[in-house]
Amino acid sequence: MKTAKHPFRFPFKTNYGRFSEDGRSYIITRPDTPRPWVNVISTGPYGAVISQTGSGYSWLHHASLNRLTRWDQDMIRDEAGRYLYIRDEQSGRFWSASWQPTKTSYEFYECVHGVGYSIITMQKDGIRSEWMIFVPEGEPLEVWRVRIRNVSKKTRKLSLWSYMEWNLGEAPDWHREFHKLFIETSFHDADKVILAKKRLSPLKNEKGEHWNKTWEYTAWHAVNLPVTAACGDKQAFLGNYGSKSSPAALQKGAYVGPTTHRWDDGIASLQVPVTLKPGEERTSLWTLGAATSEKVALNLAKKYQNFSHVEKAWHQTEILWDKLLGSPVVETPDAAFNVMTNVWLKYQAMSARFFGRTAYYQTGGAYGFRDQLQDSQVFLPVRPDLTLRQIRLHCAHQFASGRVFHWWHPLSEEGAPSRYSDDLLWLPFVVLNYLKETVNYSALLEKVPYHPGPENIRLTEPIYRHCVRAIDNVLNRFSERGLPLIGTGDWNDGLSATGRDEKGESVWMGHFLYGVLMDWSRLMESLMSQGVISKSEDHRRKRYLQRAARLKKTINRLAWDGRWYSRATCDDGTVLGSRQCRDGKIFLNAQTWALMNGIVDSPQRKRSILSSLQKHLYGPHGSLLLYPAYRTPDSRIGYLTRYAPGTRENGGIYMHAAVWAIQMECAISRPQWAWELYRRLCPVYRGMDPERYVCEPYVTPGNVDGPDSPTPGRGGWTWYTGSAAWLFRISTEWMMGIRPDWDGLRIRPCIPKEWNGFRTVRRFRGAEYRIRVLRDKTLRGDRQEILFDGKKIVGDLLPSTPGKQHDVVVLIPES
Ligand code: GLC
Repeated sequence: MKTAKHPFRFPFKTNYGRFSEDGRSYIITRPDTPRPWVNVISTGPYGAVISQTGSGYSWLHHASLNRLTRWDQDMIRDEAGRYLYIRDEQSGRFWSASWQPTKTSYEFYECVHGVGYSIITMQKDGIRSEWMIFVPEGEPLEVWRVRIRNVSKKTRKLSLWSYMEWNLGEAPDWHREFHKLFIETSFHDADKVILAKKRLSPLKNEKGEHWNKTWEYTAWHAVNLPVTAACGDKQAFLGNYGSKSSPAALQKGAYVGPTTHRWDDGIASLQVPVTLKPGEERTSLWTLGAATSEKVALNLAKKYQNFSHVEKAWHQTEILWDKLLGSPVVETPDAAFNVMTNVWLKYQAMSARFFGRTAYYQTGGAYGFRDQLQDSQVFLPVRPDLTLRQIRLHCAHQFASGRVFHWWHPLSEEGAPSRYSDDLLWLPFVVLNYLKETVNYSALLEKVPYHPGPENIRLTEPIYRHCVRAIDNVLNRFSERGLPLIGTGDWNDGLSATGRDEKGESVWMGHFLYGVLMDWSRLMESLMSQGVISKSEDHRRKRYLQRAARLKKTINRLAWDGRWYSRATCDDGTVLGSRQCRDGKIFLNAQTWALMNGIVDSPQRKRSILSSLQKHLYGPHGSLLLYPAYRTPDSRIGYLTRYAPGTRENGGIYMHAAVWAIQMECAISRPQWAWELYRRLCPVYRGMDPERYVCEPYVTPGNVDGPDSPTPGRGGWTWYTGSAAWLFRISTEWMMGIRPDWDGLRIRPCIPKEWNGFRTVRRFRGAEYRIRVLRDKTLRGDRQEILFDGKKIVGDLLPSTPGKQHDVVVLIPES
């Protein structure tokens, strides 16, 4: 195969921006990017989303059930958010400190999205403003540090005006005229604070009462400078039939009408006078947040009116992120791979997927049983305790029957019992990976209560049992022909109608289950030999192995279509993903997982799958999930067929699955293909053609349009995608090949010929490995040699000695 040459170099500059020197921030140099390019800032429980135009929203605990500020999901207008205006009191001219909502011309514009913060810098009429927003670690609030500098030659009398609409609860609030009647705002002049409370909570309390309960928080907005006036009423700010681009208050220089119309459309706006001599600069501190009582709210407002507290909080947040992104650090010849692996994939998975659980194209807040379990794997090399915490949380949302919630809401604890076949199996899958990293077998003995669930059964068992129940549950849901039933879908949610009558089957589930059974049996052996579980479990282990062997045979007998594996069957027996189908002839996961998990023994079948993948699914922008797209909705299959052809799961590049193709290529030792697939989907490279790709070049998208769409190559649904954590793992564990295994850290690099090697530092089971991979002319084929602390070792497993630093040199053949 040929690897495309590309002329792109760090900092990957386009008409819209570039990476910063250290790769830890992305600098957007003009506000009219093809779509909103955002930052999702959260370390939990609070979070804020901000786009390069200054738009976005904020929440506490849950981005949909407890959103603090109103927002309108509109990728084209991107004109809803919390804003800051600047008014020249002498001329009466005004503009916003970000491009939205006034969209004025400017002398300079820059939006820096960094790890844990964003800064929008703008210069207009000789006034330079720098608006920084960040979320202090562990606090229920966001801080705005606003610097205003007079770069003109005369003294300027200015005023700053903030503006946001209160949402205080569920979003979107469909019943706005109803909900506004419960919101009460008040201004506390001495403290320079606006408070907002809500007399009605949209959330239930423990007794299940819904409609007679106070919203538990007090929201506030505060500033550290003296305030001319404050406003809690939307009409007094915008004017009747007014607009955010030209609010009546800014036109007039004063709020228009009563400012504390207590039960009207609740907003928060503070007006702050600032006079600056030429060259002078003033910094102000603003906060927005929600606390558990008025007292706590006022205290927090006060705390962050103080510069030293703000500095300290920022410093702590920086340290937290440094630690979270600290391991592993990689240095390869490819700068895009480096920035994605060292910074952005981890940051995206942690900040947006794990802590915030929300973004711009998809707003959320809930936990998906399979989703956040998979995401939690991003912490394995650096904070495996967070993976374990997530494992416990998911165990607590499993029922004694072994079934689980497909998703559930923190705060309200409402959830949907899953009828998807795969959800529960991710529990043992992630536990296996946690144990390979840590060998902390005692975690398996930790007791966690099940969720009483629809059956209302109270039971507490060790995590080991939770996993075994999950596996047994899947083993009990088989078709007569011997394949796992698909339920209302498997990993692919969109196959939502395939198994409604409990008849449809999933071939991919077969591949997945086979891998889990094999790995779990291996774990059981160690657990028995170490006395962690009783020897009587051996009958289970044997049963798992028998079932695995039978399953593999059945898949190979029933699901081989002649050229590749079919994907699933519907209730009525219709086969999906076969040559006979008009649409959806071939599906990606049914091939990649078969190869990754050792389902394919015949070399001829392997060759046939690989050539079919190349022919039908490996496209110029990544691997398609299926091909060709479904042209017409099919009620036997599900909503997947109802998506516009070529988009998302219907024949688009669905990033989560597309990155598994890279893992598969590494698993079968095809480094050039792995690299080619990586490069085709890498957001940094895709982003070099911003007009086509449209998305942020620094985070993975959920999907990229496929050939059946009118806009192939267009990305969407960025940030909130499981692909980030996976691509991070696949990059380090499979491409770089540094993989935790039961007996130690395994090294098997699978790097392209363009790379002469790489360096990295990896912490593992208490030891630190300084690894260098180098090419060696004398080596041939797939031979590699390892020098461990200067001594040659046999095999590819590194010994581990806790507390030690090791020097590892891996020699691999020149290609
Ligand atoms: C969505 C779901 C995820 C699912 C994927 C594929 O991202 O949140 O759980 O695996 O789609 O259908």
